[in-house]
Amino acid sequence: MFITFEGIEGTGKSTQIALLKERLEALGKRVLVTLEPGGSRIGAELRRVLLSLENRDLAPQAELFLYLADRSQHVSQVIRPALEAGMVVLSDRFADSTVAYQAYGRGMDPEMLHELNTIAVGGLWPDMTLLLDIDPELGLRRATERNSREGKTVAEGRFEAESMAFHQRVRQGYLAWAARFPERMRVVEASGTPEDIASSISALVESRLHAGV
Ligand code: TMP
Repeated sequence: MFITFEGIEGTGKSTQIALLKERLEALGKRVLVTLEPGGSRIGAELRRVLLSLENRDLAPQAELFLYLADRSQHVSQVIRPALEAGMVVLSDRFADSTVAYQAYGRGMDPEMLHELNTIAVGGLWPDMTLLLDIDPELGLRRATERNSREGKTVAEGRFEAESMAFHQRVRQGYLAWAARFPERMRVVEASGTPEDIASSISALVESRLHAGV
């Protein structure tokens, strides 16, 4: 089973992924946690290029193709082999991030990026995508607090440095995209406590597991 987590910064995706991993392992599943960009060895190099504040001059199309390159490598080297080995794969971001950020955020055509994603994923779409939804004012505040707590450098923050209007467009884009794929994408309200969010997520995932995916 392949599950992806999506949402703007500060929705608590990594906390929720860690909690779901524990829950699935308690049910006897073997779980691989991964992320985009950067889930493969080559992807880790691309992540540095993509997120470094030094690269503010990265052209929008170049940025797009680097995310797609990262995704192709991630699918073929990490995700597909883990699924074939019978693991559950949890990915912090995947193809919908490109639609939300590069299309709705930067103004490219969502349908065209969907086509490019189709090439990048090579037929491997998630069984389920959990969209953690939060007001960007709250999400960004949480992300900034986390970065300073973890002593992260500004180099981690090319997207955190974008305007509030950008993050609002990304959020609305995610919601519009979730309405287009209601079977695969589920919206999870993410302003509550980590425990409340985790129980909503467990309920969604376990009902899917019982349905035999
Ligand atoms: P994160 O790992 O802290 O979430 O940072 C990844 C950043 O990259 C985040 O701001 C969203 C952005 N991103 C895109 O713009 N397009 C993509 O396709 C992906 C995977 C991430």
